[in-house]
Amino acid sequence: MDFQLTEEHLMIQKAARDFAQNELLPGVIERDEKQIYPAAQIKKLGELGFLGMMVDPKYGGAGLDTISYVLAMEEISKIDASTSVCMSVNNSLVCWGLEQYGSEEQKQQYLVPLAKGEITGAFLLSEPEAGSDATSQRTTAEDKGDFYLLNGTKNWITNGSSASVYLVIAQTHPDKGSKGINVLIVEKNSPGVTVGAKENKMGIRGSDTHSIMFLDVKVPKQNRIGEDGFGFKFAMKTLAGGRIGIASQALGIASGAYELAINYSKQRKAFGKEISQHQAIQFKLADMATRIEAARLLCFRAAWEKDQHQDYTLSGSMAKVYASETAMWVTTEAVQVHGGYGYVKEYHVERLMRDAKITQIYEGTSEVQRIVIGRSILG
Ligand code: CAA
Ligand code: FAD
Repeated sequence: MDFQLTEEHLMIQKAARDFAQNELLPGVIERDEKQIYPAAQIKKLGELGFLGMMVDPKYGGAGLDTISYVLAMEEISKIDASTSVCMSVNNSLVCWGLEQYGSEEQKQQYLVPLAKGEITGAFLLSEPEAGSDATSQRTTAEDKGDFYLLNGTKNWITNGSSASVYLVIAQTHPDKGSKGINVLIVEKNSPGVTVGAKENKMGIRGSDTHSIMFLDVKVPKQNRIGEDGFGFKFAMKTLAGGRIGIASQALGIASGAYELAINYSKQRKAFGKEISQHQAIQFKLADMATRIEAARLLCFRAAWEKDQHQDYTLSGSMAKVYASETAMWVTTEAVQVHGGYGYVKEYHVERLMRDAKITQIYEGTSEVQRIVIGRSILG
C-alpha cells in the first residue's frame, strides 16, 4: 500500500489549484448570484486538458489516471462547484462511456472534440417521472429501420444548453424493461430538439440545468452505442464512475469550506483570544479534518480500483454517500465557525453550503447509494 502521490499527481493538483485561484475565484460570487454559466472558464479548462482527463491521447485526451481526476476535481470544487459539475459530466458521464463502448466512427466524430474540450456533452437519463427509478423511462426511441424516432422529455440536464452532444437514454422495447433501453448520441441542433428554460437553483447556480424535449427527432441507427438493449447497463456502468467524480466534487466543497474555517478561526478574536483557541471551535475543526480525510481516502480507493480495472461500484457509492454527507456537514459547521459573517456572500461559505446539498441528490441520491451498497454487501 502506497499513500504517496506521484510527481505527476502533484503537478496536476497544482495546475488545478492555480487554475481555480486565478481563473475561477474572480467572479465566482457574481456568477452564482446571476446564474452565469462559466463559458470562458470551461473553454480554458478544455484547452488545459481537464475535460478529457482520462481519455487516451489518441482520441484527444490527457491519458491520465482516475487519481489525477479526483485531485483535479477536488481543487476545482474548492472554489467553484458550478464549473466542476460541467467538468465531471464531460469527463465521466460523456467521454468515458463513448471511449469504453462507442464505435471507432463514434469516437472519431464525437469523442475527439469532446476530449479536447472543443465542445461539451451532456448525459440525459432523468425524466419528470423517472429519477431514482431510472428503469421506468418514458422517452421512446422507436426503431424505424435506418433510424430511431425519439420522443419524450428529459429534465435536470447539466450542460443542457451549453452542450453540443447529448447521450440520450430511451426505451425501445417497453415489454423488455431495463433490457429494452438504448443509448443514442443526439446532436443538440437536430430538428425536433427543444431546450427548456434554465432552472433557478439553490446551489451550483452557474451550471446550466435544463429540461430537454424531443419531438419526432430522427436519430441515425449508427448513433446507437453498443448492442440493441444495452442502454440501461451503459447508464449504470457510466454512473458508477460518475459517482467517483461527484464524490470528489463533494470532497472539494468540504475541503474548501474547511480551509476557509481554519483561516477565519485564526483571525477572529472573541473573549480575548482567537476563536481557534476555544476548544469548542477546535473540536469542530478536528472533526472536519477527520471526516474530510476519510472521504478523500474513499475517493482514492474507488479511483484506484477503477485504474486497476477492478469492480468499483461499491467503493464509488461508498465514496459518494460519505463525501456528500461530509460536504453538507462540514459546510454547515464552517458557516457556524464564521458566525454572522458566514451568512453573507463575500465570505464564500454560505455558497459552499448551498452547493454541497446537490451532491446528496444527483448521480443517485444518498438513498440510492445505500441501495447499491446494501445490495452489494448482502450479495
Ligand atoms: N453495472 C452493470 N449493470 C448494472 C449495474 C451496474 N452498476 N447496476 C444495475 N445493473 C443492471 C442489473 O444487473 C440489471 O440487469 P439484469 O436484469 O441483466 O441483471 C439491470 O441493470 C437493472 O438493475 P436493477 O434491477 O438493479 O434496477 P433497479 O430498477 O432496481 O434500479 C438503481 C437500481 C441502482 C436504483 C438504479 O435505478 C439507479 O442507479 N438509480 C439512480 C439513477 C441515477 O443515478 N441517476 C443519475 C442521473 S445523471 C446525473 O444525475 C448527472 C448529474 O447530476 C451531474
Ligand atoms: P426521486 O427519485 O423522485 O426521489 C425523491 C426522494 O425519494 C429522494 O429522497 C430519493 O432518495 C427517495 N427515494 C426514491 N426511491 C427510493 C427508494 N427506493 N428507497 C428509498 N428512497 C427512495 N439527471 C440526468 O440524467 N442528467 C444530468 O445531467 C442531471 N443533472 C442534474 C443537475 C441538478 C442540479 C439536479 C437537481 C438534478 C440533476 N439530474 C440529472 C437529476 C438527478 O439525477 C435526479 O434528480 C436524482 O436522480 C433524483 O431523482 P428525482 O429528482 O426524480 O427524485
